[in-house]
Amino acid sequence: MSMELVVVGLGYVGLPLAQEATRSGLLVTGFDVSPATIESLNSGHSHVDDLGDVDISKMIAAGFKATSETATLSTADVIVICVPTPLREDTTPDLSAIKAAARTIGRSLAAGTLVVLESTTYPGTTDDIVRPILETESGLTAGDDFSLAYSPERIDPGNPKFGLRNTPKIVGGFSEQCTEHAIDFYSRLVDTVVPTVGTREAEMAKLLENTYRHVNIALMNEMAVFSHELGIDLWAAIEAAKTKPFGFQAFYPGPGVGGHCIPIDPSYLSYAVRSLGYQFRFVELAQEVSGRMPTYVAVRAQALLNDARKPVNGSSILLLGVTYKANISDERETPARPVARRLLDMGAEVSFYDSHVDGFEVDGSELQQVNDLDAAIDEADLVVLVQPHDDIMRSTPFDRAAMILDTRGKLEGPNVERL
Ligand SMILES: NC(=O)c1ccc[n+]([C@@H]2O[C@H](COP(=O)([O-])OP(=O)(O)OC[C@H]3O[C@@H](n4cnc5c(N)ncnc54)[C@H](O)[C@@H]3O)[C@@H](O)[C@H]2O)c1
Repeated sequence: MSMELVVVGLGYVGLPLAQEATRSGLLVTGFDVSPATIESLNSGHSHVDDLGDVDISKMIAAGFKATSETATLSTADVIVICVPTPLREDTTPDLSAIKAAARTIGRSLAAGTLVVLESTTYPGTTDDIVRPILETESGLTAGDDFSLAYSPERIDPGNPKFGLRNTPKIVGGFSEQCTEHAIDFYSRLVDTVVPTVGTREAEMAKLLENTYRHVNIALMNEMAVFSHELGIDLWAAIEAAKTKPFGFQAFYPGPGVGGHCIPIDPSYLSYAVRSLGYQFRFVELAQEVSGRMPTYVAVRAQALLNDARKPVNGSSILLLGVTYKANISDERETPARPVARRLLDMGAEVSFYDSHVDGFEVDGSELQQVNDLDAAIDEADLVVLVQPHDDIMRSTPFDRAAMILDTRGKLEGPNVERL
């Protein structure tokens, strides 16, 4: 009989996991609280970038279904939690979805089940928050009656080279036996499973990876600002530095950090550190430096227009690419939004081109979307390359633009200024 897996939370993380498990011969059910998501998946439609409708149809043919019926949880061999972990308004962690999922699972939990948390969160969540809820609701004991582990999701949406199967998967169990149980499960889905000593180390590994990126991107952002003033092309310097075969990893400046991970995850770690009575200063500094980049982009746009004897007020500015990352449609925390806001505040007529989204809202108003890219390039006083989607890089007649502010270091030419 095939192993029964229930994936709780069918988003950017849960759905690729459900797909890989289905491919690996497991009987997979997706559990979600969103009726719209359940309905759309069961009728064969994908709502995440990395899976198409064809993929969902293949999953359904292999036995996958989405549901909000809790009965499915009581027969599962393995339950994996992939629910969101956003920040509250005051930037403290919002674990309400994890707690709600744990309560729901606990009420239906059968002895012998493996429960794994994959949501990104601060160290201690699996042991201090999920375990007590599961134990209280089920009357069972972790380590004795059921297994509990943490395994960080490392999915990189839009990455054509690394997916779930060929990205090593870290697992840390509540006990050694729990780790073994988790290794046995993940070995069916991924090529390499990397056990670590416990749930806290597995939780910390994920935050370490994202904090490392966050800090290094912020370092490049800070260097971009003064490199411009010193008349240095930082991108060229990075290309040169990266020829060193050891001791250096290239990171790049940009218009600000976006997405669900980099701007949010390190705050989970700084929250945990603040409880010790001091600050995680690298993270706070990185947030401050990268948080200022959208305003800096607007200031550079203003300076470029000034060179052409034009005020921002009344100038037409075209933003190319508005999602947080190239070649995906996810707009969460995208820096394009604060860039547009600053330019609109200065009176610019801002429009955008992005084939990955149907519309783009800034403070409740729809930004004007251009369909005829060639005409828009001809008409704009300034073009700002925010997100270098492949189709934008392929089909934009950049040489026809009056002026381009390239926030990604991708373009060259007499009409181009790099950030
Ligand atoms: N998106 C990424 O690239 C990425 C990468 C690595 C890790 N993560 C982490 O993975 C977790 C999930 O992120 P995501 O991007 O997949 O989120 P998402 O918003 O795309 O999807 C989450 C899903 O969970 C559902 N949900 C919410 N509360 C629920 C509950 N109580 N019970 C059942 N379902 C519930 C939502 O309806 C939604 O469908 C987060 O902790 C995130 O930090 C995300």
